[in-house]
Amino acid sequence: FAPSDLIVNVRDSVPLTQGEVEGFVDAVTNNGIQQAQIGAMLMAIRLNGLSADETIHLTRAMMQSGEVLQWPEEWTRQKRVVDKHSTGGVGDKVSVVLAPALAACGMKVPMISGRGLGFAHGTLDKLEAIPGFQISCSTVKMREILDEVGCCIVGQTETLVPADRILYAIRDVTGTVESVPLISSSIVSKKVAETLSALVLDVKCGKAAYMKTEKQARDLAESMVSSSCGVGVETVAILTRMDNPIGNYVGHSLEIIDAIETMQGNGPSDLVELVCTLGGHLLKNAGKVSTPMKGYQLIEETIANGSALEKFRLMMQAQEVDETTANSLCKKDVDFFSIFRPSKLKTDVKADSEGYISSVDAFALANVINSLGAGRAKAGDQINHSVGLHLRKHIGERVEKGEVWLTVHHESPLSGDHLKTIRNTLELQDKELPAGCASRIIDI
Ligand code: URA
Repeated sequence: FAPSDLIVNVRDSVPLTQGEVEGFVDAVTNNGIQQAQIGAMLMAIRLNGLSADETIHLTRAMMQSGEVLQWPEEWTRQKRVVDKHSTGGVGDKVSVVLAPALAACGMKVPMISGRGLGFAHGTLDKLEAIPGFQISCSTVKMREILDEVGCCIVGQTETLVPADRILYAIRDVTGTVESVPLISSSIVSKKVAETLSALVLDVKCGKAAYMKTEKQARDLAESMVSSSCGVGVETVAILTRMDNPIGNYVGHSLEIIDAIETMQGNGPSDLVELVCTLGGHLLKNAGKVSTPMKGYQLIEETIANGSALEKFRLMMQAQEVDETTANSLCKKDVDFFSIFRPSKLKTDVKADSEGYISSVDAFALANVINSLGAGRAKAGDQINHSVGLHLRKHIGERVEKGEVWLTVHHESPLSGDHLKTIRNTLELQDKELPAGCASRIIDI
């Protein structure tokens, strides 16, 4: 194995064989290559790309660099092990609803999730707003929870895809994060190491997504679907719009409230649409239903009949939330702020004029609440779970001059700049927007 030969091949766009890619990943994982050579290889890939086949080889080799989860033969035979990945957005609490809803349909969901990255908040950080919720979990415990409850949402274990940890750290400091084959193999290798029967990808595009344009999102979606299918997991990607915040709330404990209200049947329509669409496609690909629409309806039913909420309650308990807290959070008229510490301050923001809401800039709003404590400046920083936003009006709705459209939950006083930025995120128009304007689904 001569790393420099491989680097030269990628530099000169000579395709790598499966064996060569495996040799590279093995050397990365087992200290058999210099850091400078890894950096050069990543830069060559960043500049010249990889073919679909090379990306599949890379994804498979990365997946095999560590532990690959094993499930009872019956689950695999019945195609019951499923998961979802989202490329991240503002107010995205889909996983918190979807995992229990799928479990209520008889699926097994070993969801390995992430912390906040850049402006977007992470599912693990949101779940940690629930007193006692434990996100670290051994693979043995995961299997027990899946057996008893059907779903868990946990952090990445040390043993899963070690090659990604090494490559990601080097990408972070060599300007090689933004590369479709590298992003695709990084995300997909971690998902397929869960040994799934079916996977659904929510690939977001817009102002508050990592992929700003539809073309970029489509390229990433195609690469991820090709890699995931290439290693044997039935996968579908859904392109979704990410310009305006998802749902009624942004911020950690506030988003858990949004998720629970959704499972109680009072969810915002855009969140419900995302959960049911993504879940519907998974159920179809897992062979549970004959069409995505039937799957959509089945997920809707788990919300309407309370079985998704019951799975969420059991999941919380399995992940070490005490029984009283878990029960209280799922009660009908729960006072959420008897369980979540409320922020010290709340500020209502009123509309300066009247009209129909055409846009609410989620990216700018996320940056404001991150600067107020909801985000991290660097890895390991503490985050404030109480800071966030309550969106009282949504796209397409009418707002009158002086009407409150947003409430900020914060700990320290808002500056004039904060308020100005927040006010500027709201765009109004005179003409009513067309029906369906709030839908986020672009393409499947
Ligand atoms: N998330 C990942 O896990 N990997 C990437 O490369 C980008 C986002």
